[in-house]
Amino acid sequence: MSGGIAMAVRGRGGGGRRSGPGLYGAAASVLAGLENGEGSLKTLVYGSSFQASWLQLLGLISDFQFSVLFEEVRESLAQNPRPLYALASETLRYSDVLDTILGAAGLLRIEKKLQPLLAKVLVYDLLFGKGLRGGGRWKALVLKHQARLKAELARLKVQKKVSRNEDLLPPSGQAEQAPQIPRYVRVNTLKTHLDDVVDYFKRQQYSYQGKAGSMEEVCSLSRKKFFLDSHLPELLIFPPQTDFHDNQLYVAGHIILQDKASCLPAFLLNPPPGSHVIDACAAPGNKTSHLAAVMKNKGRLFAFDLDAKRLATMSTMLMRAGVTCYQLAHQDFLTTDPGDPKYSQVRYILLDPSCSGSGMTSRSPVEENTPLAERLQALSGFQRKMLAHALSFPALQRLVYSTCSIYQEENEDVVWDVLQQREKDFRLVKVLPSWSHRGSGTFAEAKFCLRASPKETLTNGFFVAVLERRPTGADEERLWEKTIHRLERVHFGDELSLEMHDSIRGKGF
Ligand SMILES: C[S@@+](CC[C@H](N)C(=O)[O-])C[C@H]1O[C@@H](n2cnc3c(N)ncnc32)[C@H](O)[C@@H]1O
Repeated sequence: MSGGIAMAVRGRGGGGRRSGPGLYGAAASVLAGLENGEGSLKTLVYGSSFQASWLQLLGLISDFQFSVLFEEVRESLAQNPRPLYALASETLRYSDVLDTILGAAGLLRIEKKLQPLLAKVLVYDLLFGKGLRGGGRWKALVLKHQARLKAELARLKVQKKVSRNEDLLPPSGQAEQAPQIPRYVRVNTLKTHLDDVVDYFKRQQYSYQGKAGSMEEVCSLSRKKFFLDSHLPELLIFPPQTDFHDNQLYVAGHIILQDKASCLPAFLLNPPPGSHVIDACAAPGNKTSHLAAVMKNKGRLFAFDLDAKRLATMSTMLMRAGVTCYQLAHQDFLTTDPGDPKYSQVRYILLDPSCSGSGMTSRSPVEENTPLAERLQALSGFQRKMLAHALSFPALQRLVYSTCSIYQEENEDVVWDVLQQREKDFRLVKVLPSWSHRGSGTFAEAKFCLRASPKETLTNGFFVAVLERRPTGADEERLWEKTIHRLERVHFGDELSLEMHDSIRGKGF
């Protein structure tokens, strides 16, 4: 029996999607966590993967099976939480419709042992998802009622005078008409090379189109074709919905499935190999692994996060990606001591703090209870504190601040407010001039920052600002000496008379 459950969790359906009690139970547990206010959909899915104890509470597995299977199921979902996220968020989207159908079909009255949230997830998949597949007690039970459930769905459509399932949703639940975001694949240069990955996909019958020229070209990318990104040197672009979660390169950590916008922070921070770097809010670690790749695994990467479960997922991910130069700390970044000698050589910081997540296109709109203005105020207060703290590291030269929020309150406003207090020491850097979507705000330098969105950059909504320490008098003096020295050598070789030397300096080259 336990082998049966394990098989169902491990088994791959025709579409490459896992099915089985593990997935359905986990989705039901995520919905229960949401109802109990234990976190957002994203946190519950990606942070904790799923609460194994819910599987027991839901009666899906016995204590014995729990102990045997827990690790295996957890690992499986932790490696690929996407199907779980999709199933939970789609069930939420159809929640009202499912309540109506379940009520009309009387399923929970007839099957008293069937837990309501599990019923919802199963009926979602039966009627609106990929269909229930495989064996299993609860699936068999729901399948017994499928004729009645389908009849209730048909009746509802007639009643609402609609023909498509999607039209049963309230307007806010219907999919937006924004362009679809391509599947971005970052080549993990710690494990492989761009050329090898391109060759691999060619062998898989994908046709390589070279560097992407324009957004229109990327939008019209059709099946089995792919581009190289025009901004990021190791990023490949495939058509939307291409699913590589089961691909052997992904499983082996040779490729990372990461949105283009989320690749900007590490790319723009660009710490050289050997440097000391802080990733202040690191889990689940995509940007950490990217930083390590930029650093060629050389140097020190201090990675902090408050969330133990997300850190556990991160640790597995970093191992798979071959990252070795990191030290993980389960610690509030605000409690780190910038004066600690351990951080005395930290010249680079990546700060990607918790935010509203409003730029994430896959985010469910039903998650928030607190009014937006109140949330933004709390979030931006926290983000300001984090940024001010990061800027107090004594050797810091360059910092990237990023969020997946679309709100100015969490982005330009945070950067500007903190910079006002530190303007003698730090300034905004104008980055990536070829990037068309720039920051907006009430100050001129806002355009130094980058914005991203599905419509303008074919990515999730994102914000990036790069700050650097202003050169001090001593730095400028050193730079001046270097320039003079180079000029002297270029123009006059080593045989420079004292007289000429003085004359160059006097001319103020
Ligand atoms: C946007 S996510 C980071 C995503 C991550 N940079 C990546 O690319 O995978 C924000 C993270 O900040 C963590 N966090 C929130 N407050 C924190 C704090 N005071 N110190 C350290 N981490 C914190 C959260 O647990 C969450 O994992």
